[in-house]
Amino acid sequence: MDIIFSTRTRKSGGIMGKDTNNKKPSNPIISISIPDSLLEKLDTIINERGYSSRSEAIRDSIRGYISDYNWESNLSGNIDVIIVFTYEKTSKLAIHKIYEILHQEKYDEMIVSNLHLHIESGCIEVLVVKGDAKSIRALHGSLSALKEINLVKVLPIS
Ligand code: NI
Repeated sequence: MDIIFSTRTRKSGGIMGKDTNNKKPSNPIISISIPDSLLEKLDTIINERGYSSRSEAIRDSIRGYISDYNWESNLSGNIDVIIVFTYEKTSKLAIHKIYEILHQEKYDEMIVSNLHLHIESGCIEVLVVKGDAKSIRALHGSLSALKEINLVKVLPIS
């Protein structure tokens, strides 16, 4: 499903040349495609939390995403983390892509332990990772960028 959020940037003069928009300039508009199941979950949260619109909820989630990114960017030196991620059990492509990343020599030696679990919606992989913060960021980035992975969380343990 495609959803469009935020308001369209209008040139001065507004629609049909009339000066219909005297307020501050509108935000840029972007469109994204999103699975129905994810949109349903988003709408549930929007109702529960009382967001005024999908746009506001998505803006809020982007702020959280950037905050997480900034937090992780500031990590340095040797650290210990737990990386948790989920993916669909039936996706052979996901498994192939994930293990292609995890079996890279540079990551192989950082991953000291792993646990694989099943829940109704798919597989959960838990990794205990020790290593340089920069390499851990790179591993997190590679996993996050896979569209087959639903969620990646990094939890510091040191
Ligand atoms: Ni599995």
